[in-house]
Amino acid sequence: MLRDSGKDWEVVELDLDPPKSGELLVRWVASGLCHSDEHLRHGDIVPRFPIVGGHEGAGIVEEVGPGATGWEVGDHVVASFLPACGHCRWCAQGRSNICDLGATILEGCMTDGSFRFHENGDDIGAMCMLGTFSQYGVISEHSAVKVDKEIDLTKACLVGCGVATGWGTAVYSAPTEVGDTIVIFGIGGIGINAVQGASHAGATNVIAVDPLANKREMAEQMGATHAVASAEEAMELSQQLTNGVGADKALVTVDVVTPEVVENAVNVIRKGGRVVLTALADPAKATVQVSGSVLTLFEKEIVGRLFGGGNPHLEIPKLLGLYQAGRLKLDELITKTYTLDELNTGYNDLIEGKNVRGVLIHEH
Ligand SMILES: NC(=O)c1ccc[n+]([C@@H]2O[C@H](COP(=O)([O-])OP(=O)(O)OC[C@H]3O[C@@H](n4cnc5c(N)ncnc54)[C@H](O)[C@@H]3O)[C@@H](O)[C@H]2O)c1
Ligand SMILES: [Zn+2]
Ligand SMILES: [Zn+2]
Repeated sequence: MLRDSGKDWEVVELDLDPPKSGELLVRWVASGLCHSDEHLRHGDIVPRFPIVGGHEGAGIVEEVGPGATGWEVGDHVVASFLPACGHCRWCAQGRSNICDLGATILEGCMTDGSFRFHENGDDIGAMCMLGTFSQYGVISEHSAVKVDKEIDLTKACLVGCGVATGWGTAVYSAPTEVGDTIVIFGIGGIGINAVQGASHAGATNVIAVDPLANKREMAEQMGATHAVASAEEAMELSQQLTNGVGADKALVTVDVVTPEVVENAVNVIRKGGRVVLTALADPAKATVQVSGSVLTLFEKEIVGRLFGGGNPHLEIPKLLGLYQAGRLKLDELITKTYTLDELNTGYNDLIEGKNVRGVLIHEH
């Protein structure tokens, strides 16, 4: 868990309540190391502290709380970092990624305001109401998606955040249309899956932008038609490939959003094009600083999206089905695996640009 911004992840013993109504006790098997947890450590985004990290997890149900219907001990689960109740205004509209239950993902408490982790009687939160860096967690059934037991959970965990978010950014939020030219800024765990999504959805040109050579190489292996190191190169290339029209859509999946990357994304798209902001930064910072008149005169759009704009309970099984059919790559996304004691090393590797995705494999 993390006690404060700027501190390292600490391995501690915590007390865990049994599952209450509509909840499940899950033994986490694996958890992806997404940059969103790093935002909490770095201080870009400040949650309620202390908090158990991890929101990209897969595990096995060990106990079913009262009223959690349709669940059995032994069920395999991929966690959705956004809970979906199924009947609020947003869920009813098919936008369950913005379900009202998401309100407490940074408080780390359950919907009724109570906590499941405790240390010497003090309440400890859980990132996205999950806390998948812990070996065990009690979560709402609204955060749990039952998956096929045949699927390796050490790979399946990635679909809980990075894969679904990147894929959805390209496929639903851009959306990529057949023949499009798509520019993707930032090829980490999210951006690489935007590459897979854009390629799958029929883009003619998928231009990956990342200053790191290992990321560009990976992008080319995962479906990018071009990979460049800078926004200037992306600009030149998109102009050249589209006869001076510009890219159809630009996706921002960098680690920390800056006004520069947003401006570059707005400049690289054609009139009537769209920029999708999936990456995050300090919410107090004004990271969109562009000419409003350019947006008006060229009818350009900038939109923000959570979970790639998809519905977690629909997307997670769908993406795993694509994986089982050999149409979506998961194994290739994992650069390195870590044990719990190596969590800080895993995040240092992320910051140093070594990993497309690191995965924590729990020992029990
Ligand atoms: N909206 C959502 O639902 C959602 C979900 C998950 C993660 N996120 C956010 O998405 C972002 C990406 O997460 P990640 O885990 O993939 O991060 P990551 O650290 O794995 O990858 C970021 C990549 O961006 C590259 N980069 C940095 N500046 C760049 C620039 N100016 N141009 C091009 N590339 C640049 C880095 O070299 C790195 O390869 C984070 O901000 C994370 O919090 C959002
Ligand atoms: Zn994430
Ligand atoms: Zn809802």
